[in-house]
Amino acid sequence: MKILVTGGAGFIGSHVTRLLLDAGHQVAVLDNLSHGYKESVDSRAKLLVGDINDRGKTKAALKGIDAVIHMAGLIVVPESVANPTAYCDNNVIGTVSLLETMRNTGVKKIIFSSSACVYGTPDKLPIMEDAQIKPDNPYGACKASVESFLQSFNAVYGIDAVILRYFNPYGPGELHEPETHAIPNFIKSALSKKPIPLYWQGEQIRDFIYIEDLARAHIDVLGLSGYQVFNIGTETGVKVKDVISEIFKIVGYKVPIDDLGQRPGDVAANYASSKKLQKAVGWKAKVDLKEGLKRTIDFYRHNS
Ligand SMILES: NC(=O)c1ccc[n+]([C@@H]2O[C@H](COP(=O)([O-])OP(=O)(O)OC[C@H]3O[C@@H](n4cnc5c(N)ncnc54)[C@H](O)[C@@H]3O)[C@@H](O)[C@H]2O)c1
Repeated sequence: MKILVTGGAGFIGSHVTRLLLDAGHQVAVLDNLSHGYKESVDSRAKLLVGDINDRGKTKAALKGIDAVIHMAGLIVVPESVANPTAYCDNNVIGTVSLLETMRNTGVKKIIFSSSACVYGTPDKLPIMEDAQIKPDNPYGACKASVESFLQSFNAVYGIDAVILRYFNPYGPGELHEPETHAIPNFIKSALSKKPIPLYWQGEQIRDFIYIEDLARAHIDVLGLSGYQVFNIGTETGVKVKDVISEIFKIVGYKVPIDDLGQRPGDVAANYASSKKLQKAVGWKAKVDLKEGLKRTIDFYRHNS
């Protein structure tokens, strides 16, 4: 298939691009490089530098495309709390603009990077896809809004839309600036022998999904149609402090912990049921935390 990956110069998009190419698909990447790197884009892909809000660029990028994997977006939750309008403009309006251009150019399929943030604080664990949507920050609200637009574009224009709600992705290639995610910050601190910044004394429970497993799911769902929603997680909740212990074991030493206390707005525990995706396409996470951390530490040893 001919696939357009928006945000393909970013952490997750660059992995998805590579796996698509390995599977024999043709890939174009549309990215404004606001937070991505052209060096991260596989040289077999065609990189188009442009914004999803730019109708002219998007129209040109969509020419001859069979499906869009839409990953472009701003991703920092505290930033979204400080500036919800910027997040809405980029992530919601930008996506609706992309959808309209898809409608006008006859592109009928989209896979969307959503997030566990749409669930807010869950009532029940593991979280199933039919759990209540109640985002507790503007980033999550943007994801939930886009999901609604996708549902409506499926209903009105027959665009196939597959929503993938990621839990906590980690792995090689994560080069965010600023980096707000736990695992890269823990590893970078450990490797530079600096104190590890830690909220809630690491008692929070999260579902850490290795990047290669997450990226593979996008290829697995390409054949689906209609409007469908799937969680992407490991079905296992891990305490954040146990991730740190595992990192210490792998590097072979410990560094001090910088206790940052309690951070308002953090969800105490979340992890996914991914049974729905397993049933639909046979997808299952394969790389366990220990192996994923080893590969990730190896990446930062050579890229810090
Ligand atoms: N990383 C995570 O923990 C996580 C979790 C859940 C969902 N997601 C979603 O997955 C997607 C990819 O996340 P990531 O971690 O790779 O982020 P990233 O910042 O590494 O990649 C996003 C890319 O989108 C590009 N971009 C942003 N706005 C754009 C615009 N208006 N037009 C064109 N390009 C634009 C950026 O330059 C960047 O390369 C995002 O939609 C994010 O919300 C990420």
